[in-house]
Amino acid sequence: MCGIIGYCGKKHLTDVLLTGLKRLEYRGYDSAGICLGNSNSLTIYKKEGKIRDLTAIVPREATGSWGMGHTRWATHGGVTDVNAHPHTDCSGKIAICHNGIIENYSRLKEKLGSEGHSFHTETDSEVIAHLIESMYSGDLEKAVKDSVPLLQGTFGLLVMHADHPCEIIGARNGSPLVLGIGENEMFLASDVSAMMSHTKQVVYCEDGEVVKLSALDYQVSDLRNRPIDKEVSRISWELEELEKGKFSHFMIKEIFEQVQSIPRAMNGRVDENQATARLGGLNMTERELLGIKRVVIIAAGTSFYAGQTAAWLLESLARIPAVTELASELRYRNPLVEEGTLYFAVSQSGETLDTLMAVRELQSKGARVLGICNVVGSTIARESDGGVYIHSGPEIAVASTKAFTSQLTALYLFILKMARMRHMAWLQGQTFIEGLLSVPRCLESILARAGELQALAKKYHQAESFLFLGRGINYPVALEGALKLKEIAYIHAEGCSAAEIKHGPIALINQNTPSMFLVPEDHLRSKLISNMKEIKARGGPVIALCMEGDRETAEIADDVFYVPKISEEFSPFVMVVPLQLFAYYCALELERNVDQPRNLAKSVTVE
Ligand code: G6P
Repeated sequence: MCGIIGYCGKKHLTDVLLTGLKRLEYRGYDSAGICLGNSNSLTIYKKEGKIRDLTAIVPREATGSWGMGHTRWATHGGVTDVNAHPHTDCSGKIAICHNGIIENYSRLKEKLGSEGHSFHTETDSEVIAHLIESMYSGDLEKAVKDSVPLLQGTFGLLVMHADHPCEIIGARNGSPLVLGIGENEMFLASDVSAMMSHTKQVVYCEDGEVVKLSALDYQVSDLRNRPIDKEVSRISWELEELEKGKFSHFMIKEIFEQVQSIPRAMNGRVDENQATARLGGLNMTERELLGIKRVVIIAAGTSFYAGQTAAWLLESLARIPAVTELASELRYRNPLVEEGTLYFAVSQSGETLDTLMAVRELQSKGARVLGICNVVGSTIARESDGGVYIHSGPEIAVASTKAFTSQLTALYLFILKMARMRHMAWLQGQTFIEGLLSVPRCLESILARAGELQALAKKYHQAESFLFLGRGINYPVALEGALKLKEIAYIHAEGCSAAEIKHGPIALINQNTPSMFLVPEDHLRSKLISNMKEIKARGGPVIALCMEGDRETAEIADDVFYVPKISEEFSPFVMVVPLQLFAYYCALELERNVDQPRNLAKSVTVE
């Protein structure tokens, strides 16, 4: 949700800001703007549309000695040039870029309005500039520190003042802010990708911290002016990982990368001798792990479906009751935290606000919350009590793909450990490990037949609506398949348990509403076959993902895609990848913006 970048240094300012914004574009891409500081003046360019639209209106010679930029995902106020950030105060001397939502903006706007401030935009963010103006008396940092306590809501904030050359003030509450330390240059941005081509030395800011930035120095302090000594970390991602390479979209690149990203999530974590998993990051002793009586997984979006899949397996293999809850619901539900319950927060970005707030709510009640995150140093990763990094490498496409299978991998390792500590024998543990290790090979063979899914997409992309139907461990995978198609192809799709169609969804069936069935070889296969026949009897087209050699399914379905044979617990991996590819190719057929679908953003740092 919105990306911000600030820069103090000697490089060509507009280049640094525009390329930085391009890297942040996945966070929001409906409008963008930059503010260039030159001795005692600020120049602002802003434009509705993508970063390329902004780039087109910024004169090549425009530059400055310090500056900042913003890429927007609109919350308050339509998508217009005027509502794009940066926003200024009445004098035009103070400019701000804001990621987040100011919840009490109407009250502040009214008050500041009555004091003579005039507003030009429909945004919540503009009040920040005027509030700082009202507090300012020569010291910009102090004005920001005096303003911040009056803001309710979330913010990652950058502030510039024309009379404070080469100075940027940053503040954070709930929305990410990372400081980058270069050689005679400094950065402040929503995430590391914006600065990675310049520096790998970073400092992660926390809520309540304020940063004063110049080209040569930075100071971090709290709102009571106490200096804070920050640890400097090193980014482990490589720059090439932020490029598409030979692929036409990040999404397809990331789908293909799963063959490598799944082993990365397993790397060093499989103990073949003991037939168990080694997960040192959990920060829990074996004795503590043995005391776990219940597991609750909290997440949003695709991560939620990874959690649901894992919860099913945790209960069935490790015999530990497990549920998955939407973080957005849990955080407002006054959840009951009990001794013996372990919580997992699953989040690719580690910044999803609902998930973060749920973590905090749970921790405040004494819960132990572990994180399953991809982005190292992200807020959820830092604030959780331990966890597992999935090491997928940067996921840039808005629709999550490789993070899903890596989240599953990390959670499967945890399940293995729990199961081996309880009922699972050594030999079964070995079989489980063999199964998990065989997944990348199975995915390779699916990816080699991506063309078959492209052909299916050609045939079905004009459907009005889709049903995605699965049972058992593949029920959440059906939900994920439907989500993918909605997200990037904008085709209405509903994921259901195939058993539930008779309670409503079957009423939707007609020739233009195909059903995608997930048919692994498990104990529910015969039930799925009956459900397929029910759909066929009502004239609905059926596509089935089934295991190699499943003739019976092939005879009923209009089209099949065979997945390699694998045991039930690993079937989600071989089912989800064809669904990702199918959604991708449907989106291509429909000429959608695959990597940046309309109205969405990758990192949802607002409620
Ligand atoms: C957004 C993204 C999804 C993602 C969800 C949760 O909606 O577009 O791809 O699954 O957020 O994100 P997280 O980073 O917490 O996994």
